Amino acid sequence: MEIKKYKSFEGIYHVIFPEGVRKIATLNFTPGHRVYGEDLIPLGKQEYRLWDPTRSKLAAAIVKGLKKVPIIPGSYVLYLGAASGTTPSHVSDIIGLKGFEYCIEFSPRSIRDLVFLCEKRQNMSPILEDARYPKNYEYLVNPVDVVYCDIAQPDQAKIMADNANAFLKKGGYILLAIKARSISSTKNPSIIYKQQMEILEDEGFEIIEAIDLHPLEKDHAMILGKKN
Ligand SMILES: C[S@@+](CC[C@H](N)C(=O)[O-])C[C@H]1O[C@@H](n2cnc3c(N)ncnc32)[C@H](O)[C@@H]1O
Repeated sequence: MEIKKYKSFEGIYHVIFPEGVRKIATLNFTPGHRVYGEDLIPLGKQEYRLWDPTRSKLAAAIVKGLKKVPIIPGSYVLYLGAASGTTPSHVSDIIGLKGFEYCIEFSPRSIRDLVFLCEKRQNMSPILEDARYPKNYEYLVNPVDVVYCDIAQPDQAKIMADNANAFLKKGGYILLAIKARSISSTKNPSIIYKQQMEILEDEGFEIIEAIDLHPLEKDHAMILGKKN
Protein backbone atom coordinates (compact mmCIF):
# COMPACT_ATOMS: atom_id res chain seq x y z
CA MET A 1 0.00 0.00 0.00
CA GLU A 2 1.22 3.51 -0.78
CA ILE A 3 0.19 7.01 0.26
CA LYS A 4 0.47 10.10 -1.93
CA LYS A 5 -0.60 13.71 -1.60
CA TYR A 6 -3.90 14.29 -3.46
CA LYS A 7 -2.91 16.66 -6.29
CA SER A 8 -1.34 19.67 -4.57
CA PHE A 9 -3.91 19.73 -1.75
CA GLU A 10 -2.38 20.03 1.69
CA GLY A 11 -3.71 17.53 4.24
CA ILE A 12 -5.56 15.40 1.66
CA TYR A 13 -4.16 12.07 0.46
CA HIS A 14 -4.60 9.18 -1.92
CA VAL A 15 -4.23 5.69 -0.48
CA ILE A 16 -3.12 3.46 -3.36
CA PHE A 17 -4.00 -0.20 -2.76
CA PRO A 18 -1.87 -3.06 -4.21
CA GLU A 19 -4.48 -3.76 -6.93
CA GLY A 20 -4.16 -0.14 -8.09
CA VAL A 21 -7.40 1.18 -6.54
CA ARG A 22 -7.03 4.73 -5.18
CA LYS A 23 -9.08 6.13 -2.33
CA ILE A 24 -9.12 9.59 -0.84
CA ALA A 25 -8.11 9.92 2.84
CA THR A 26 -7.08 12.32 5.59
CA LEU A 27 -4.49 11.88 8.33
CA ASN A 28 -6.36 10.75 11.46
CA PHE A 29 -6.21 13.51 14.13
CA THR A 30 -7.33 10.92 16.73
CA PRO A 31 -5.55 7.66 15.81
CA GLY A 32 -7.53 4.53 16.66
CA HIS A 33 -10.88 6.35 16.52
CA ARG A 34 -13.46 6.00 13.74
CA VAL A 35 -16.28 8.53 13.26
CA TYR A 36 -18.77 6.90 10.85
CA GLY A 37 -17.48 3.37 10.30
CA GLU A 38 -14.76 4.43 7.86
CA ASP A 39 -11.64 2.27 7.34
CA LEU A 40 -8.48 3.20 9.21
CA ILE A 41 -5.22 2.60 7.34
CA PRO A 42 -2.00 2.48 9.38
CA LEU A 43 1.02 3.38 7.23
CA GLY A 44 4.43 3.86 8.79
CA LYS A 45 3.98 5.90 11.97
CA GLN A 46 0.76 7.52 10.73
CA GLU A 47 -2.85 6.45 10.48
CA TYR A 48 -5.11 7.58 7.62
CA ARG A 49 -8.92 7.61 7.53
CA LEU A 50 -10.59 6.80 4.23
CA TRP A 51 -12.95 9.62 3.22
CA ASP A 52 -16.13 8.31 1.60
CA PRO A 53 -17.27 10.57 -1.28
CA THR A 54 -20.76 9.08 -1.10
CA ARG A 55 -21.06 10.21 2.54
CA SER A 56 -19.40 13.63 2.30
CA LYS A 57 -20.15 16.36 -0.25
CA LEU A 58 -16.72 17.90 0.23
CA ALA A 59 -15.05 14.59 -0.63
CA ALA A 60 -17.44 14.22 -3.58
CA ALA A 61 -16.46 17.69 -4.87
CA ILE A 62 -12.75 16.86 -4.53
CA VAL A 63 -13.13 13.53 -6.33
CA LYS A 64 -15.18 15.26 -9.05
CA GLY A 65 -12.34 17.68 -9.73
CA LEU A 66 -12.61 20.72 -7.41
CA LYS A 67 -9.51 22.69 -8.43
CA LYS A 68 -8.90 24.41 -5.11
CA VAL A 69 -9.58 23.27 -1.54
CA PRO A 70 -9.23 26.37 0.62
CA ILE A 71 -9.30 24.33 3.86
CA ILE A 72 -5.64 23.69 4.66
CA PRO A 73 -3.53 22.95 7.76
CA GLY A 74 -3.96 25.85 10.19
CA SER A 75 -7.25 27.12 8.70
CA TYR A 76 -10.01 28.55 10.87
CA VAL A 77 -13.32 27.21 9.56
CA LEU A 78 -16.95 28.03 10.36
CA TYR A 79 -19.00 24.92 9.50
CA LEU A 80 -22.77 25.43 9.17
CA GLY A 81 -24.86 22.25 9.38
CA ALA A 82 -22.31 20.01 11.08
CA ALA A 83 -24.82 17.21 11.82
CA SER A 84 -23.09 14.41 13.75
CA GLY A 85 -19.69 15.30 12.32
CA THR A 86 -18.94 13.11 9.28
CA THR A 87 -17.41 15.81 7.03
CA PRO A 88 -16.45 18.08 9.98
CA SER A 89 -14.20 15.27 11.27
CA HIS A 90 -12.25 15.25 7.99
CA VAL A 91 -12.02 19.05 8.11
CA SER A 92 -10.60 18.63 11.63
CA ASP A 93 -8.01 16.14 10.26
CA ILE A 94 -6.96 18.61 7.54
CA ILE A 95 -6.66 21.75 9.67
CA GLY A 96 -4.72 19.94 12.41
CA LEU A 97 -3.60 21.34 15.74
CA LYS A 98 -3.02 24.90 14.50
CA GLY A 99 -6.47 25.25 12.96
CA PHE A 100 -9.93 25.49 14.51
CA GLU A 101 -13.42 24.53 13.40
CA TYR A 102 -16.61 26.08 14.81
CA CYS A 103 -19.48 23.63 14.20
CA ILE A 104 -23.00 25.10 14.07
CA GLU A 105 -25.88 22.65 14.26
CA PHE A 106 -29.47 23.24 15.39
CA SER A 107 -30.66 19.66 15.83
CA PRO A 108 -30.30 18.56 19.48
CA ARG A 109 -30.15 14.91 18.37
CA SER A 110 -27.24 15.50 15.97
CA ILE A 111 -25.34 17.78 18.30
CA ARG A 112 -25.28 15.07 20.96
CA ASP A 113 -22.99 12.92 18.76
CA LEU A 114 -21.04 16.02 17.77
CA VAL A 115 -20.32 16.84 21.42
CA PHE A 116 -18.75 13.39 21.93
CA LEU A 117 -16.70 13.88 18.76
CA CYS A 118 -15.47 17.33 19.83
CA GLU A 119 -14.46 15.96 23.25
CA LYS A 120 -11.88 13.81 21.41
CA ARG A 121 -10.86 16.47 18.89
CA GLN A 122 -9.50 19.58 20.52
CA ASN A 123 -9.57 21.59 17.26
CA MET A 124 -13.37 21.67 16.93
CA SER A 125 -16.25 22.94 19.07
CA PRO A 126 -20.00 22.20 18.86
CA ILE A 127 -22.40 25.16 18.90
CA LEU A 128 -26.13 24.43 19.25
CA GLU A 129 -27.55 27.35 17.29
CA ASP A 130 -29.60 28.22 14.22
CA ALA A 131 -27.29 29.40 11.40
CA ARG A 132 -29.95 31.99 10.48
CA TYR A 133 -28.94 34.02 13.50
CA PRO A 134 -25.15 34.61 13.47
CA LYS A 135 -25.53 37.32 16.12
CA ASN A 136 -26.44 34.56 18.63
CA TYR A 137 -22.98 32.99 18.38
CA GLU A 138 -20.75 35.94 17.49
CA TYR A 139 -19.28 35.89 21.02
CA LEU A 140 -18.07 32.31 20.41
CA VAL A 141 -16.58 32.59 16.91
CA ASN A 142 -13.33 34.29 15.86
CA PRO A 143 -12.73 35.50 12.27
CA VAL A 144 -12.35 32.52 9.91
CA ASP A 145 -10.55 31.69 6.65
CA VAL A 146 -13.41 29.57 5.28
CA VAL A 147 -17.17 29.35 5.79
CA TYR A 148 -18.54 25.92 4.79
CA CYS A 149 -22.32 25.59 4.53
CA ASP A 150 -24.31 22.37 4.15
CA ILE A 151 -27.72 23.01 5.66
CA ALA A 152 -30.17 21.96 2.91
CA GLN A 153 -32.44 24.99 3.41
CA PRO A 154 -34.31 27.00 0.72
CA ASP A 155 -32.51 30.20 1.83
CA GLN A 156 -29.08 28.57 2.19
CA ALA A 157 -27.23 31.09 -0.02
CA LYS A 158 -28.55 34.00 2.07
CA ILE A 159 -27.63 32.20 5.33
CA MET A 160 -24.14 31.57 3.94
CA ALA A 161 -23.78 35.24 2.96
CA ASP A 162 -24.95 36.49 6.38
CA ASN A 163 -22.43 34.25 8.16
CA ALA A 164 -19.60 35.13 5.78
CA ASN A 165 -20.35 38.84 6.24
CA ALA A 166 -20.17 38.33 10.01
CA PHE A 167 -17.13 36.05 10.32
CA LEU A 168 -15.11 35.67 7.08
CA LYS A 169 -11.70 37.36 6.92
CA LYS A 170 -11.03 39.60 3.92
CA GLY A 171 -9.87 37.39 1.04
CA GLY A 172 -11.46 34.32 2.69
CA TYR A 173 -13.35 31.54 0.90
CA ILE A 174 -16.84 30.06 0.99
CA LEU A 175 -17.94 26.53 0.13
CA LEU A 176 -21.69 26.09 -0.31
CA ALA A 177 -23.24 22.65 -0.79
CA ILE A 178 -26.51 23.21 -2.65
CA LYS A 179 -29.28 20.65 -2.38
CA ALA A 180 -31.49 21.50 -5.36
CA ARG A 181 -34.46 19.54 -4.02
CA SER A 182 -34.61 21.59 -0.84
CA ILE A 183 -35.27 24.65 -3.02
CA SER A 184 -37.60 23.19 -5.66
CA SER A 185 -38.76 19.64 -6.38
CA THR A 186 -39.69 20.46 -9.97
CA LYS A 187 -37.11 22.93 -11.37
CA ASN A 188 -34.06 21.70 -13.26
CA PRO A 189 -31.19 21.54 -10.70
CA SER A 190 -28.80 23.45 -12.98
CA ILE A 191 -31.22 26.43 -12.98
CA ILE A 192 -31.31 26.31 -9.18
CA TYR A 193 -27.49 26.22 -8.94
CA LYS A 194 -27.33 29.28 -11.22
CA GLN A 195 -29.90 31.17 -9.13
CA GLN A 196 -28.01 30.40 -5.91
CA MET A 197 -24.76 31.64 -7.48
CA GLU A 198 -26.50 34.86 -8.53
CA ILE A 199 -27.61 35.41 -4.92
CA LEU A 200 -23.99 35.01 -3.78
CA GLU A 201 -22.75 37.37 -6.51
CA ASP A 202 -25.35 39.96 -5.52
CA GLU A 203 -23.99 39.67 -1.96
CA GLY A 204 -20.50 40.53 -3.28
CA PHE A 205 -18.92 37.08 -3.64
CA GLU A 206 -16.83 36.05 -6.63
CA ILE A 207 -17.75 32.55 -7.82
CA ILE A 208 -14.60 30.55 -8.54
CA GLU A 209 -15.97 27.13 -9.32
CA ALA A 210 -19.20 25.12 -9.37
CA ILE A 211 -19.09 21.32 -9.30
CA ASP A 212 -22.10 19.11 -10.00
CA LEU A 213 -21.81 16.24 -7.50
CA HIS A 214 -23.83 13.77 -9.58
CA PRO A 215 -23.69 10.72 -9.39
CA LEU A 216 -22.00 10.74 -5.95
CA GLU A 217 -24.73 13.05 -4.58
CA LYS A 218 -27.85 13.33 -6.75
CA ASP A 219 -29.12 16.90 -7.38
CA HIS A 220 -26.35 18.53 -5.37
CA ALA A 221 -23.62 20.99 -6.34
CA MET A 222 -20.64 22.49 -4.50
CA ILE A 223 -19.90 26.16 -5.06
CA LEU A 224 -16.50 27.65 -4.23
CA GLY A 225 -16.44 31.42 -3.86
CA LYS A 226 -14.32 34.20 -2.50
CA LYS A 227 -14.93 37.47 -0.72
CA ASN A 228 -12.62 40.17 -2.05
C1 LIG B 1 -27.02 17.42 5.09
S1 LIG B 1 -26.87 17.55 6.79
C2 LIG B 1 -25.18 17.97 7.03
C3 LIG B 1 -24.20 16.84 6.84
C4 LIG B 1 -22.79 17.25 7.23
N1 LIG B 1 -22.47 18.54 6.66
C5 LIG B 1 -21.75 16.25 6.78
O1 LIG B 1 -21.34 16.30 5.62
O2 LIG B 1 -21.35 15.43 7.60
C6 LIG B 1 -27.62 19.12 7.10
C7 LIG B 1 -27.57 19.50 8.57
O3 LIG B 1 -27.87 20.88 8.66
C8 LIG B 1 -28.61 21.10 9.84
N2 LIG B 1 -29.32 22.39 9.67
C9 LIG B 1 -30.29 22.70 8.77
N3 LIG B 1 -30.68 23.98 8.91
C10 LIG B 1 -29.93 24.51 9.89
C11 LIG B 1 -29.86 25.80 10.49
N4 LIG B 1 -30.66 26.80 10.08
N5 LIG B 1 -28.96 25.99 11.48
C12 LIG B 1 -28.15 24.99 11.90
N6 LIG B 1 -28.18 23.75 11.38
C13 LIG B 1 -29.05 23.51 10.38
C14 LIG B 1 -29.54 19.89 9.92
O4 LIG B 1 -30.01 19.70 11.23
C15 LIG B 1 -28.59 18.78 9.44
O5 LIG B 1 -27.96 18.17 10.52
